[in-house]
Amino acid sequence: MLQEKIEQIKKDFSIEISNINNDKQLEELRVKYFSKNGLVASLFILLKDANKDEKPQLGKVLNTLRSELQNQFNIVREQVSKSESSKNINVDLSLPGLERNVGSKHILTQTLDEIKSIFKGMGFSVFEGPELESDYNNFEALNFPPDHPARDMQDTFFISDEFVLRTHTSPVQIRLMKEQKPPVRAIMPGRVYRNEAVSSRSYCMFHQVEGLYVDTDVTFAELKGTLASFAKQFYGNNLKFRFRPSFFPFTEPSAEMDITCFICNGAGCKICKHTGWLEILGCGMVDPNVFDNVNYDNEKYTGYAFGMGIERIAMLKYGIKDIRVFFENDYRFLKQF
Ligand code: PHE
Repeated sequence: MLQEKIEQIKKDFSIEISNINNDKQLEELRVKYFSKNGLVASLFILLKDANKDEKPQLGKVLNTLRSELQNQFNIVREQVSKSESSKNINVDLSLPGLERNVGSKHILTQTLDEIKSIFKGMGFSVFEGPELESDYNNFEALNFPPDHPARDMQDTFFISDEFVLRTHTSPVQIRLMKEQKPPVRAIMPGRVYRNEAVSSRSYCMFHQVEGLYVDTDVTFAELKGTLASFAKQFYGNNLKFRFRPSFFPFTEPSAEMDITCFICNGAGCKICKHTGWLEILGCGMVDPNVFDNVNYDNEKYTGYAFGMGIERIAMLKYGIKDIRVFFENDYRFLKQF
């Protein structure tokens, strides 16, 4: 009886162990055969009931069986542990690594960096002012009459009677001139706010770069030369541009600078409203009243100022048709730059 069982277990074990491939199966086999309640232990229990004469002989057989199975088990365990660890080493080292997403500067920051570097090359320094601005600096000191439409609730975010979110970077001109005596030559970048309906062309918040140069004998020709040089460095040497008379309360005379439409190359299309031209900035000679407001001698000094929208000039350079994409942080847009 016992002898038969021994043979059976031996057979089963050799079949089962030949099918072992991994640690989990190995452990299951160990529990089945070698644990306290396993098959090998059950044979030793049966031994107790065996015939007295046969006992020593059967005991020997059982011990041999146990060490035989144990030996086979150990050999297979060795093989499994080798193949398990070789699985880990078995990687193709020539495969490319996992791609990491590397961030980059926002396109507006890149554009501003480029503007700064061009103007620094022409002798301008960088000066900044706050986004929360006094009504006085934003309007009055810039020669806006009290009933000027730009002061209207439509355009300005009023914080109180006295303070507004600046609607342009021009109030930084006032701060700069109050702080420094002429000659001054600086650009003033920053965020501005306008209470306008959000659309593909306008947003309630955007960025401008202001420029100001005040000295004795500054002329409109210098203004044109400086802005032409900027535009060519920024958009390329083949650029065509023109200056068109305009009006701003704080400059006299005033002008706007246009460049040829990047879509139709001047032929006329929807984007340029069939004029062939796109406006990129406002500019002019500093109004003598503004000099009065900052205690600059307007008999002695002249100056020019200009202001451009950073979104706008980036849109024209890169063919971006909707201003809102700058502020949505859509990764698909950002990663193109
Ligand atoms: N501040 C004007 C605007 O926001 C631009 C400008 C700046 C015009 C300086 C003339 C001189 O439209």
